[in-house]
Amino acid sequence: MEKLTVEHVSKIYNTPNGSLLAVKDVSFTVEEGEFVVIVGNSGCGKTSLLNMIGGLEEKTEGSIRVSGQEVTGPGPDRGMVFQGYSLFPWLTVQKNVEFGLKMRGIDAKTRAETARKYVSLVGLEGFADTLPDALSGGMKQRAAIARTLANAPEILLMDEPFGALDAQTRIVMQELLARVSRETGSTVLFITHDIDEAILLGTRILVMSRRPGTVQKILPVSLPGKRDHTALTSPEFLALKREIMDLLWTEQVL
Ligand SMILES: Nc1ncnc2c1ncn2[C@@H]1O[C@H](COP(=O)(O)OP(=O)(O)OP(=O)(O)O)[C@@H](O)[C@H]1O
Ligand SMILES: [Mg+2]
Repeated sequence: MEKLTVEHVSKIYNTPNGSLLAVKDVSFTVEEGEFVVIVGNSGCGKTSLLNMIGGLEEKTEGSIRVSGQEVTGPGPDRGMVFQGYSLFPWLTVQKNVEFGLKMRGIDAKTRAETARKYVSLVGLEGFADTLPDALSGGMKQRAAIARTLANAPEILLMDEPFGALDAQTRIVMQELLARVSRETGSTVLFITHDIDEAILLGTRILVMSRRPGTVQKILPVSLPGKRDHTALTSPEFLALKREIMDLLWTEQVL
């Protein structure tokens, strides 16, 4: 089943220097349970595209549908995770994860149980009663992911969620997200600059052209064996990485 349908979407920003075409005629779909990763050079329109899908930014042209419903604004069917951690600093991890459930009027017992499940899914059992300030960056991002998943969105939209983390924590988070999305059967659309991250996580990778961002190529990812840090050096991994780098680099304006 198609969870996300993007058809002929364009975005023009009106700036003091005139209009700027950021995204041009982008079309693709994401099927239920897929993990689609968007890569592209800085400024090619990735965030603009994701924000239009999230309903945070108006599209100039085209159609965006989530489970067949046209997107007209933000909604609980799309769970967004950004680079900033976006937790409420005055609420504990448990209460942060419960927040969306409370907003939806779910009773205290059910939301406590649901939140506990997702807190433990991301490995934060011992920190349920901790305030965000006392957590490391990786732990904050795990709490943010638990909070988003607890709302059971149709699709997770993630814009460089691990961009602020150190290299090693990043790999731990990639393995965690790969496991969690598999276990929950989540549908994910994920943006990154990091080609290793794209290949580790993605079932398909959408390579965007430079601005105005168009779909340059969509590549399936098929790797034998486990998708963990050991996969990073397999021949299949390196061949795909080379292909993506060639696509991005031939585009560089020298
Ligand atoms: N609100 C805005 N008003 C005007 N121009 C904008 C706005 N947001 C983005 N842009 C422009 O649109 C283009 C695409 O920006 P966008 O943030 O979507 O790129 P990106 O691919 O996410 O880049 P990065 O990889 O650096 O995050 C850029 O040229 C940017 O300057
Ligand atoms: Mg961006």
